[in-house]
Amino acid sequence: MTASFPATRLRRTRAAAWSRAMHREVVLSPADLIWPLFVTDGSGVEEPIASLPGVSRWSVDGIAARAKEAVALGIPCLALFPNTQPGRRSEDGAEALNPDNLMCRAIRVIRDACGSDIGVLTDVALDPYTSHGQDGLIDGAGYVLNDATVEMLVGQSLNQAAAGADIIAPSDMMDGRVGTIRQALEGAGHANVQIMAYAAKYASAFYGPFRDAVGSGGLLKGDKKTYQMDPANGEEALREVAMDLAEGADSVMVKPGLPYLDIVVRVKQRFEVPVFAYQVSGEYAMIEAAAAAGAGDRDALVLETLTAFKRAGCSGVLTYHAAHAARLLNG
Ligand code: PBG
Repeated sequence: MTASFPATRLRRTRAAAWSRAMHREVVLSPADLIWPLFVTDGSGVEEPIASLPGVSRWSVDGIAARAKEAVALGIPCLALFPNTQPGRRSEDGAEALNPDNLMCRAIRVIRDACGSDIGVLTDVALDPYTSHGQDGLIDGAGYVLNDATVEMLVGQSLNQAAAGADIIAPSDMMDGRVGTIRQALEGAGHANVQIMAYAAKYASAFYGPFRDAVGSGGLLKGDKKTYQMDPANGEEALREVAMDLAEGADSVMVKPGLPYLDIVVRVKQRFEVPVFAYQVSGEYAMIEAAAAAGAGDRDALVLETLTAFKRAGCSGVLTYHAAHAARLLNG
């Protein structure tokens, strides 16, 4: 028995709902959510993604509708990912530089539909555009080349910024890309376009459904371990974050989310900068599978996991549950 008992009873403040509300340390709101959306070709198209039950790819008209829905729900930002038509994928991913590619068209329809009422975050990496599914240019042995890839990523970033992207989010994990992209944006008159760096992105087994969604999964040979981080490393994440901040990142991201909350906490405590986390496709699928199996209540699982990101210090979370969670939070 502790010396302070019974003077200290931690259950006292938990006894009534009003008191729990008053003592709550963090409060999740729709403004904490970034909604990832998958874009596909055509019009009037909705393609459900089997490994991500409840998530679909939308043609650009559907993307515009989702953007309006997000504004109405109080979600401040969308994250876009294209499912490039197979015929437009190539060894060098040149479609990433096409000013009329799916990504650019989606940015423009969102702008037309919502003006500046919502932020548009665009993924920078070549995997939705390459015929081999890697995030960059490869040599004869399949090794992803750093500096040549960075040049492509700069072109891709400028292309997205010209179409109206608000936040460039490089997810490729090449060294030096944040600084190079920053310089190019400044040079092209995009001083206010932000960079959210996927700073600590791990070579994770939780990305499978995403690769189905963008259509790169079946193309990918091997893995991404020569550029994405080893799940065993924490110290190295701090070096990645330091490097991206020094190169001009406005905010940093940790990815995946729940298995890496320790990294979120270390990054937040060390750098005191805006930190975001990506609750990735495999995490979403796990929650959906648990709920479908009767192993937990879906809504409660969603809100509990999202609240955990806030408690760990995140400014916000990319989550496929964004619209559902916002509806729950708006009551
Ligand atoms: C690729 C990219 C991936 C994700 C976002 N951008 C997958 C990968 O690195 O293979 C994963 C997101 C998710 O699983 O939800 N540049």
